[in-house]
Amino acid sequence: MSTATVLVPHEMLTRYTRDVLAKLGMPETDAAYAADCLVQTTLWGIDSHGIIRLLIYSERLGNGALKISPAIRTIKEFGATALMDGDACLGYIGAREAMKKAISLAKQHGIGSVLMRNSNHFGAAGIYAREAAKEGMIALVMSNTPVNMAAPGSKGPVLGNHPIAFAAPLFDDHPMVFDTCMSEVAGGKLLVAKEKGEKIPFGWAVDKDGNPTDDPAAGLAGAFLPLAGHKGYCFALMEEVLTGLLSHGVFLGDIGHLFKQPKETCHISHHMLVMNPLALMEEKEWTASMREMRNRIKETPMRDAGAKLIFPGEIEEMCEAKRKKEGIPMTATLFESLNKVGEPFGLAMKLNG
Ligand SMILES: NC(=O)c1ccc[n+]([C@@H]2O[C@H](COP(=O)([O-])OP(=O)(O)OC[C@H]3O[C@@H](n4cnc5c(N)ncnc54)[C@H](O)[C@@H]3O)[C@@H](O)[C@H]2O)c1
Repeated sequence: MSTATVLVPHEMLTRYTRDVLAKLGMPETDAAYAADCLVQTTLWGIDSHGIIRLLIYSERLGNGALKISPAIRTIKEFGATALMDGDACLGYIGAREAMKKAISLAKQHGIGSVLMRNSNHFGAAGIYAREAAKEGMIALVMSNTPVNMAAPGSKGPVLGNHPIAFAAPLFDDHPMVFDTCMSEVAGGKLLVAKEKGEKIPFGWAVDKDGNPTDDPAAGLAGAFLPLAGHKGYCFALMEEVLTGLLSHGVFLGDIGHLFKQPKETCHISHHMLVMNPLALMEEKEWTASMREMRNRIKETPMRDAGAKLIFPGEIEEMCEAKRKKEGIPMTATLFESLNKVGEPFGLAMKLNG
């Protein structure tokens, strides 16, 4: 395994990913959208859910677990709520459609709540929350995941480490974005550590017998640990209610696993909850409050001289600026694996020098 790092220009990575997805049969606009999502997530520094996922998505698009041209449809609508069916779509495409509908409902009613069932892994929840913020909306984005997380005292995994993202707009400025999940860290961080041949800190996961481990492979075969003990477990259960149960979809152990069942659709549910702050006040009043809150946070006295409290979303914006300038760092092994995906179509990325 090569641990050498290469720097990949984001434009080349986006073009390559879009072309691979289009060659796999995805409609051009969907291929371009999914490529943008994968590379944008990597630009933010969320490597666990960025371009590394092209490997599994391309396998699943190729074997039919994900439909390349799904018939996504609205099943029910009532007031500001809607229920959609993703028809075994790639999660990015289902989530894009659900978010579009939630934004449109929030523009009409002040709030929009859209459930989607029969979708698949949608990557970083923050993608869609930021899309709502771009439209001047507050968003809470939730999704369920297959069972992969322990609960306090459980022998094995009990429920999913469901992702959740919150975004609040600042109109002409960067939004506040908190994009996380219910386990101590996202499972993708174990994947990245495994790919780099690194150990993980104790406290992230337990092995298949429930013992603490610092081996990412053993953690992936065992269970992730919930954030803050019973709190993470109960928040995750709450999220399961607001996704799998409220969409009248499947939940807990009935959700398919991205890696363990690569030939099957996962039947994942998403929930896009969008609120329009301008339904309640003027834009200048909203932005004044948001700015004041952010300024007060940034002015917090810190123990270490020169340190500043971080506002949620800032780390990702700084990483994006750096990676756009310098290129996206990845192991040579990952770069080669990505190129293997395009090989059957005669596609390849080439690095200068
Ligand atoms: N689709 C799925 O099934 C799935 C499952 C799990 C996680 N995920 C995704 O994985 C990604 C990583 O999840 P995670 O749980 O490891 O996230 P994390 O715990 O690393 O949290 C990241 C968030 O915290 C903010 N943040 C980080 N440090 C901060 C600080 N010191 N002060 C203020 N804010 C700070 C960041 O801006 C970001 O919004 C997310 O994008 C999540 O949506 C997806």
